[in-house]
Amino acid sequence: MLLKGKKIVVAVTGSIAAYKIPHFVRLLVKAGAEVQVLLTTSASQFVSALTLATVSGKDALMDVADGATWNNHVMLGLWADVMIIAPCSANSLAKLANGLCDNIVCAVYLSARCPVYIAPAMDEDMWKHPSTKANIARLQSYGNHIIPTEYGALASGLTGEGRMAEPETMVRILENQFDTQLPLRGLKALVTAGPTYERIDPVRFIGNFSTGKMGVAIATALANKGALVTLIAGPGVQHTNNTNISIVDVESAADMYNATMVIANDTDILVLAAAVADYRPDEIAANKIKKGDSGLVLHLTKTTDILASLGKIKAPNQTLVGFALETENEVEHAIKKLGDKNADMIVLNSLRDAGAGFGHDTNKVTLLSKTHPTVSLPLQSKKEVAIAITEHIITMRDAKETV
Ligand code: CTP
Repeated sequence: MLLKGKKIVVAVTGSIAAYKIPHFVRLLVKAGAEVQVLLTTSASQFVSALTLATVSGKDALMDVADGATWNNHVMLGLWADVMIIAPCSANSLAKLANGLCDNIVCAVYLSARCPVYIAPAMDEDMWKHPSTKANIARLQSYGNHIIPTEYGALASGLTGEGRMAEPETMVRILENQFDTQLPLRGLKALVTAGPTYERIDPVRFIGNFSTGKMGVAIATALANKGALVTLIAGPGVQHTNNTNISIVDVESAADMYNATMVIANDTDILVLAAAVADYRPDEIAANKIKKGDSGLVLHLTKTTDILASLGKIKAPNQTLVGFALETENEVEHAIKKLGDKNADMIVLNSLRDAGAGFGHDTNKVTLLSKTHPTVSLPLQSKKEVAIAITEHIITMRDAKETV
């Protein structure tokens, strides 16, 4: 229904996952979309232009000179309501990130005025290579949507990350794009969740009891309203397979800070739900610290405050939400954090409330902002709390837009 009459460019590049694209195109056509397939020469080694033309009902284009006119790439860039590059090989990813233009896929990508979705597919080591990560970050910073890869069997025979998302998942993601009922459609969100571990030596760390349940619930609530969410997850945080959420695993406060800063500029909504360590050991001992006869003194250094750092660089269209976990003078401390860290909203948790805080499936919070009346929510499931926080974010953003 959502894809009925939508014009979709499906661009195929050279990866074994291309064998799934005829099925993907078939699903789009069945959903009522008009599909134009493009394929690179290497893609044609994995799937034939004839197959793709048959399932889409249009000639699959392989060259900028194919079709009615030599400049069809410009026309296709204007024609499309959405473009999806799937599978996107490591090589094509690098070309797109650097603006190369030596085939029809790159040419249409550069001409496209519509939203562009990129579904990478490659072996795990290629996927985890810093060059690939840098290319992904750059493509995201240009406003492209990266469809998270999946974990499972790879063509190499190994098991790991890097599989292209399943066709059904990609169809759902494209449907979201056109779902005007979703208030956060087209927006990007970042959520930090869970504890951080600050290493003392190879076998010990300083940590806390956070499980990340609240952060995961918020990531899910934002994704269900249409946002594309990056969940920056501390150790032990349970993964979710929501197709609108991509997960970056981190260990320490410094890792969490770095992962956040990579995408912060390009994010509309930032919710910092993690219990970040305020201090880390000055030095990490190279070997296990042996027990001596007397006590042990650990020297600690302050970590960087991620929320406060984001507050300093916040753009007017960004919504920054922090948490405050307090045990005394709760509201007073939370209001101070709102101002000191330049947040738009503080979600106050009191450890004095039964059923609230670490590890529970429930929470009791108060939402404080500079612009809206304080909202005190009853004790309820973390899922319900997350929905309420998301609704409050939407209300605050709507109010800002109408000013
Ligand atoms: N926070 C952060 N980076 C840190 C410490 C905290 O981003 N290094 C964020 C948390 O994710 C949370 C908010 O700051 O959203 C408040 O965290 P909290 O631990 O309640 O407060 P602190 O600022 O650490 O102050 P204190 O521990 O003294 O209450």
